[in-house]
Amino acid sequence: MNKVPRTEFGKFSHFFPCQATIVTSHHEGQDNAMAVAWHMPISAEPALYGVGISPDKLSHKMITASRQFGVNFMPFKSLELVAATGGPSGKSIDKLKAYNIKKDKPVKTSVPILTEAYASFECVLEDEMVYGDHSLFVGRVVVVHQLTEAFDEANALNVYLETPVFYMGKDRYLEIKEFNIRHMDRNATANQLIRKYQS
Ligand SMILES: Cc1cc2nc3c(=O)[nH]c(=O)nc-3n(C[C@H](O)[C@H](O)[C@H](O)COP(=O)(O)O)c2cc1C
Repeated sequence: MNKVPRTEFGKFSHFFPCQATIVTSHHEGQDNAMAVAWHMPISAEPALYGVGISPDKLSHKMITASRQFGVNFMPFKSLELVAATGGPSGKSIDKLKAYNIKKDKPVKTSVPILTEAYASFECVLEDEMVYGDHSLFVGRVVVVHQLTEAFDEANALNVYLETPVFYMGKDRYLEIKEFNIRHMDRNATANQLIRKYQS
């Protein structure tokens, strides 16, 4: 075992794998879609969701201008769309047309809702803040589109039906093929550990 602390740690990518989503936007009659792996829930009530987007992206400009964005959670079978929307910028190509991306109607915004997604958020921009080389866009989730059968009774993804796309950086993706869901009762587990180290 050789675990070393480094202040010079090279490319900042130790947090991968991250789930890859497709963030959609719409401004002045134009649709766009980009792969986004840097995203996170911010608040449950109200429902707020954050996405990290670099200022050189067309999506950045479109979200700032339209004050809305969509977050589409894609199944692994849609890996091609994730990779392709993370390629050429919408500045040079209409990705939705070129990749024949099917979309459903949004309810409260104008952002494309991707048909292949097992869940999509319609977000209204609540806050935008620049952090280093990315902007954090925080959106209020005003509509959730979800594939009913893809979610279990706790509203968590039914991974027996759909597995998400995980991004590992450098064009590598992680597919989860075999898994084991373990239920760990928090208090029972904590008590077990306490008993183990008390004796
Ligand atoms: C899997 C994957 C994840 C990505 N995640 C992000 C991200 O979180 N933030 C970001 O700014 N760019 C990210 N990118 C790069 C953008 O998706 C890419 O530059 C895209 O072409 C930008 O599109 P646009 O200019 O049409 O908005 C990612 C690319 C890939 C392939």
